[in-house]
This record gives sequence, C-alpha cells and structure tokens, in this order.
Amino acid sequence: MDDIKMEVHKCMLCHDAPCKAERIIRALRFDNKLGARYLLDFNEHFEDCPYGIDVEKIVSEVSKEDNLISDTSVDITANICGIKLENPFLLSSSVVSSSYDMCARAFDMGWAGCVFKTICLMEINESSPRFSSLRDWDNSFLGFKNIEQLSEHSLEENLEIFRKLKEKYPSKVLIASIMGRNEDEWEFLASKVTEAGCDAIELNFSCPNMEYKDTGVDVGQDPDLVLKYTKAARRGSKLPIIAKMTPNITDMCIPARASKDGGADGIAAINTIKSITGVDLDSLVPEPNVSFKSALGGYSGRAVKPIGLRFISDLASDSSFNGLHLSAMGGVYTWRDAAEYLLLGASSIQVTTAVMEYGYRIIDDLILGLKIFMKQKNYNSLNDFIGYSKLSLVQLDELDRKTILYPKFNYDKCVGCGRCFISCMDGGHQAIKFENRKPILDGSRCVGCHLCKLVCPNEAIGCAVKRIIK
Ligand SMILES: Cc1cc2nc3c(=O)[nH]c(=O)nc-3n(C[C@H](O)[C@H](O)[C@H](O)COP(=O)(O)O)c2cc1C
Repeated sequence: MDDIKMEVHKCMLCHDAPCKAERIIRALRFDNKLGARYLLDFNEHFEDCPYGIDVEKIVSEVSKEDNLISDTSVDITANICGIKLENPFLLSSSVVSSSYDMCARAFDMGWAGCVFKTICLMEINESSPRFSSLRDWDNSFLGFKNIEQLSEHSLEENLEIFRKLKEKYPSKVLIASIMGRNEDEWEFLASKVTEAGCDAIELNFSCPNMEYKDTGVDVGQDPDLVLKYTKAARRGSKLPIIAKMTPNITDMCIPARASKDGGADGIAAINTIKSITGVDLDSLVPEPNVSFKSALGGYSGRAVKPIGLRFISDLASDSSFNGLHLSAMGGVYTWRDAAEYLLLGASSIQVTTAVMEYGYRIIDDLILGLKIFMKQKNYNSLNDFIGYSKLSLVQLDELDRKTILYPKFNYDKCVGCGRCFISCMDGGHQAIKFENRKPILDGSRCVGCHLCKLVCPNEAIGCAVKRIIK
C-alpha cells in the first residue's frame, strides 16, 4: 500500500466526486485500509479523476489487500451517563452543532448525538476572521486556532431548536451546553434546557475565548467557582450533568473533583488550548489578524490529541472519578484516535475540528474502522476494551530501564536515503554507519532510542532482538 499513500494524499476528497471512488479513497485517508477493501466489494465502477489522481492504481492496490473482513456486525452501542448512544460518536459543542439543520444533517449521516453550541444569556459578538491554522505539507490542518465564543442565537431560538430536534430525532442524544455569569444564570439555563427536552447538560467551564471576565476558562481554573456553578446547575435540573474542563491547567483532577462534589455525573475534556499559531510576516500581526490586532485563542485538532489523551488518562486513573462518565475529545480524526481515547478510559467521543475540515461524512470511517478493529480483536462490545491501556501506563520510576530494543533495517524497503544515518549522527549516538548507501547498525553504540525508526520516510526500520543490560 505504501506506494499509493502519496496518491491518496494528493486526492482533494471532492464533494460528490466525479471518480466515484471517493468513499474508498476516503477510507484510506482516514486510516481505514481494511475498510477500503471492505467497501470495494460494494463499489466496482470508477471513473478517471479530472484532477489527475491515478484512481485505477489506488483501486488495484486496495484489491490486493488479502486481509478481507466481510462481516462488520459488531455492537458499538455506548452510553453517556446512562443514556443510550447508537455509537460512541457525538459532535462536540461548537460551530459544527450550531443550528437545527446542521444537527439534523449530522444525525441523518450517522452521528449518535451532539452537544449543541454553548448557549448563554450574554450578548455575543464574534470577530472576523476568527480562525487560523498550522498546515501539513498537503495543506491539511496540523492544528487549528479559533477565537470564537458562544451561540449567537437568542435563548428562545435555541430552545426552539432543541424542541424540534428532540421531536424529529427522539433516539439521538441531544446535550445542551450552557454557560452563565452567576449562579442564577447557571440555574436558569439548566432549567430551561431541561424543559426543552434535552437529554443531558454540559457545563462549559472551559472556553478560552470569552470577552467577559470570570467566564469560561476563568471558571475552569477556579475549583470554588466550578463547585458553586455545578451546584447551581444541579439545582436547575435533574438531568445528567457533564462538566467540560479546560486543559489550560496543570492538574485537571482538581476542578473535575469540584464538579463531582457539586453534582456532576460526568466529565468532558478537553476544550481548546490557549495558543498563538503564528505571526504574519507581512503585517507583523499574530494570526488571525482582526483589523490589525489579534489575541490568544483555543488550539484544537490533530496537534492536541496527545494532550487530550493525557488528561483523559489522568482522570480515568484517579479512583475518585470511578463511576463518572468520561467524554473525550481533542484531535479525533480517525477511528484509531477514538479507539485510543476509549482504551485510556473514555466512554464516549466528541469531535469538532475534523468535521470542520472534512465534514460530517467522517462518521462513516469512524464507525466502520472501529467495527473492523473490534472484529479483528474479537471484541464484542466497547466495554471489552474501554480503559484497557490504563493498565500499562505506569510512573516513570516503574519503567523497565534494563532492556535495549535494537532497530532492524529492512533492506528490501530501504531506499538508501541516509536519513537514519544523519539523525543518528547529529541527534543520536553515532550508532549507524552508511556504506554503499545502506545503513549498518553498530550495536556497541546503539542505545535503542528508535530515532532512526521515527525519521525513516519509508517505514523500513523495525525492531530486532532485545538485550538485557546486566
Ligand atoms: C470553532 C470552534 C468553536 C468552538 N465552540 C465551542 C463552544 O461553543 N463550546 C464548547 O464547549 N467548546 C467549543 N469548542 C471546543 C470543542 O468543542 C472541542 O472541545 C475542541 O475543539 C477539541 O476538539 P477537536 O480537536 O475535535 O476540535 C469550539 C471549538 C472550535 C474549533
């Protein structure tokens, strides 16, 4: 498959793609190689790509995949604070879930539910532009910054949307995200969204973009306010309450515990991380440039997944949260990202940036990829593996420091570029010689750090035998 990787990445993933192979190429793009093979049996007719992608080559490579999974019937139902989800995937509270039509379209396409864009009683005035991004070589987002606040609809408009959504989609899960400025507002909003028929409430203690002081992230960084406002929301509603935490803090367990003490049934994490994505070197203004000024804004997308995983793992490993639901988000693009969050202890998954970049259609590969993963591993339900990887996450002083795992060069795949040699020379332990354009390992110098494996552009370095240091 390696030689089609570039071809697949050049594909623009067009809407209503003229090639008719969009579904298969999309599966490859979203880390769902076996899903692409599975889909091939339902999609045999393809056209040429008007933009020069070699569709025939891609399809022919996919057809060579011999690990065919033809049965994808596996139970991926989940629940959020006891409410049934047809799958673990929800839109997270943001622009992607900010109107009736948007949520309805997402539901029709297979999302199990949504956390609606945060509603409030404040006057919300947004800036333009309000986004900036860090780009990968193919122009995709590595990370994404926004300086957006909350819903601009009036409370009444949003409540009407909730009523209509629940009427049309009774089996989809609708969670209202709310933010108040004081206890009365939290209590009032909680009671209003309950009357409107929402299934649960998420408390936004974490937006880093608020123009009003002592709201959003200011609350999430202050456990006393978290406790007070969770209690206020609890007074306003008997619905399940999920407190959404900020990652702009060292120890998330402190405010999370306060929300539990205040009556929360679950924790959602992470909201976005305060950031500056860059400075425009023509105007000399940081991005995004809003009439020649900018501000810190929330970072999300692929770049933040490691931080999200860390916080979910922190929460899942703390026994004071046993029994509380953990809803994870931050950089989920593929089923693999979702599986990682589940393995570290989350029970539902929320998504925004990937949807902003690629649309609601990513749900296809989130679901199919997750099902194929479970089939392969013989898991019958999500509970078979939720939290499993927590077991192998230990303190640094508990790690095995007596074993060296050496790299092994696969000379059939090695193209002789010498990247492993350069990195080992200048960033490692000078343990690779480069002779006749081939790397050769000097085991007496190698410490088994695996930098060579990570920089190899052709995945030509694997692992060889271990040595136990005496
Ligand atoms: C444009 C934009 C608007 C957002 N608005 C909200 C919001 O109104 N309420 C909220 O709780 N989180 C909001 N978020 C945060 C997301 O719900 C989510 O926590 C964060 O983006 C991380 O997930 P992701 O990497 O999948 O985007 C927003 C994020 C973005 C990018």
